[in-house]
Amino acid sequence: MTNSPLDNLDDQVAGLRSSIDALTTLDELRDAEPFIIGKRSILSSLQKSLGVLAPEDRKEAGARLQEARRLIEGLLETKRGELNAKERVERLDADRMNLGDVVTASVRWPASVGHPSLVAVTQRELEDVFVAMGFTVSEGPEVESDWYNFEALNIPPAHPARGMWDTFYVELGEPETVVLRTHTSPTQIHLMETAVAHGNLPIHAVMPGRCYRRDTPDARHLAAFHQIEGLVVDRGIAFSDLAGVIETFTRAYFGPDIESRLRPGYFPFTEPSAEFEVTCTICRGDGCRTCSQTGWIELGGCGMLDPAVLDAVGIDGDVWSGFAFGFGIDRCAQMRHQIADMRALIENDTRFLRQFS
Ligand code: DAH
Repeated sequence: MTNSPLDNLDDQVAGLRSSIDALTTLDELRDAEPFIIGKRSILSSLQKSLGVLAPEDRKEAGARLQEARRLIEGLLETKRGELNAKERVERLDADRMNLGDVVTASVRWPASVGHPSLVAVTQRELEDVFVAMGFTVSEGPEVESDWYNFEALNIPPAHPARGMWDTFYVELGEPETVVLRTHTSPTQIHLMETAVAHGNLPIHAVMPGRCYRRDTPDARHLAAFHQIEGLVVDRGIAFSDLAGVIETFTRAYFGPDIESRLRPGYFPFTEPSAEFEVTCTICRGDGCRTCSQTGWIELGGCGMLDPAVLDAVGIDGDVWSGFAFGFGIDRCAQMRHQIADMRALIENDTRFLRQFS
């Protein structure tokens, strides 16, 4: 019997199988591949040596060799898949931040932490001023029914004054109209209703919060903004009490250099009504873009409670009287810190925000 180059094929295949088994990384596999299956492999040299066989034996030997090659290729691919999966998991594990990393990675000092927004700080300061004057602080909902936002405030449906408070409507599928509140004045109504229900009059309260209007943002307006409402219901309250509170507030918050003035105005829920203005702090009264060249900035409105509002909440106007006011908190921040364009408050430019940390 003549010797065939394939006499040791089974052993050689077994040898290749254990070489494949021994591979532990994709790099090793890549390096070993030419020797296992490629040009430098035993299988390739066997292929070449088949030429020594008699033509009648060559075909069968070729088929055996082909089968061995297919087996080894299959084993190699299986190994490649396993190593790929294993190394992917290892890479993910290596990338994962564990608790130890967080502890050491965050030891940068001084640590960079956020701070309350200028509007939040201003709200707190305004509350403090009023609390010092004997007011309490209450909050109301930002989504209101038509009754609270308009009707109870003496603004009936289709009243032209509604045009001053064009807003966003909330579709709840209910018969009642529901809006994002256009001012904090509806909180007055909640407060008076509660006080009447519990027999808790008098009221001396301020009510800060977010409001919404369909306004195009400009140097003095934002579509989502903040107000602080004031309400006093007591016996024998006169306009001079209102003027005194406004004056005291202006001095306390803006300091003695800023002048304030009340100008006759119109609000459906107060009678008489006034607009409350302070000297524009950007131009110190000379006139600029921020104050539309008037030298004054309107901070809000105020007035004596309209009898129709007292009626709406069931307060006896013969016994009780009162006043109300509503200021823009963002406007107060703008004037106090001389911010020429209010849009800076919502643009989130950290170079601007950091000034107020
Ligand atoms: N709610 C009014 C507004 O947003 C401001 C206002 C005016 C509030 C007069 C009051 C007030 O309480 O008495 O335009």
